Amino acid sequence: TKDGYPSFMAKEIQEQPDAVRRTLQGKVDAQGRITLADTDIEADFLMGLKKVIVIACGTASYSGQIAKYAIERWARVPVEVDLAHEFRYRSPMLDQHTLVLAISQSGETMDTLMAVRYAREQGARVLAVCNTPGATIPRESDAVFYTQAGPEVAVASTKAFLTQVTAVLILALYLAQLRDVGVGAEIGDAVEELRGIPEKVKQVLASERQIKDLAGALAGAPAVLFIGRHVGYPVALEGALKLKELAYTHAEGFAAGELKHGPIALLEPGQVVVVIVPSPIGSPILHAKTMSTIQEIKARGATIIGIAEEGDSVVNTWADEVVALPPTHPLLAPLLTTVPLQLLAAHIALARGMDVDQPRNLAKSVTVE
Ligand code: F6R
Repeated sequence: TKDGYPSFMAKEIQEQPDAVRRTLQGKVDAQGRITLADTDIEADFLMGLKKVIVIACGTASYSGQIAKYAIERWARVPVEVDLAHEFRYRSPMLDQHTLVLAISQSGETMDTLMAVRYAREQGARVLAVCNTPGATIPRESDAVFYTQAGPEVAVASTKAFLTQVTAVLILALYLAQLRDVGVGAEIGDAVEELRGIPEKVKQVLASERQIKDLAGALAGAPAVLFIGRHVGYPVALEGALKLKELAYTHAEGFAAGELKHGPIALLEPGQVVVVIVPSPIGSPILHAKTMSTIQEIKARGATIIGIAEEGDSVVNTWADEVVALPPTHPLLAPLLTTVPLQLLAAHIALARGMDVDQPRNLAKSVTVE
């Protein structure tokens, strides 16, 4: 049931602090170390790991892109991310030292299932990250990490995505711990920060009023662009996908550094650009680069909405509107920056009179290839 919320989407967005908290439960021991005792995957295999390949579709694939940044940074294992429907057709190189991470909320997505079967035939080990107990993908995988979002009813994914990001961060930290690659102190800090994330997600949800007003002003926009760097890039892709799905507004997400390689031609007065801004304290170099991109956008007269860390005075000078978020570790930022984009898409859709739970032409799980 909707528990008094106007839609399943509204309810599922609000449930995110609890969904993330449940996904973290039992994964951090009293010493602040990650444990994956209930995930059936041998430590020996993970210690000898040569490569990780993530396969997923849509929103789940964006959590896979975030996994790449986290696993490479913390565990120093090379990661490739593939859309499941592209994977088999590029003759991927895998062997018994490859971990394939299959991320799927429903666990029934046919494209992802076929990629899982192919990976196992080639001798790789498959770990499913799934939200649905007993679904086909976890049953056909070697091991499973269940996200604890609870049933997701709205067709467009929200809370499942946040728990997928949580799961891949836990996995990246676990790999780093096992492989002991000399980033020990950072790992400890990140684990500590992860435990505090549900509370920060709750704080971000408090910006709903501001975002609703913003959505009212943007409801007539013919197109919205989303840009980000580093983990902000997959978040930009997710923001654009949510807006397409829910509001049927043309939206495009791309890496901020790509702007000057082409998309800048789209900019003109009235064009709305949502910028995911890295922390000026946690990621000063990326922050400075993003600021010069913002100035390029401003010089073309476009409208800038910044999703930024609270107290970021530079972004405040340049952006037309800023949604301020609590500070966090740079690799954990997607758990916060995604939330205002979900709210924005949902409120633009509502302002345009759309059914946010059941967008046209979409099904909750895509069981055809
Ligand atoms: C977007 C969305 C889809 C799914 C994709 C994969 O809001 O819901 O892009 O993320 O179809 O679905 P699962 O995770 O069930 O494999």
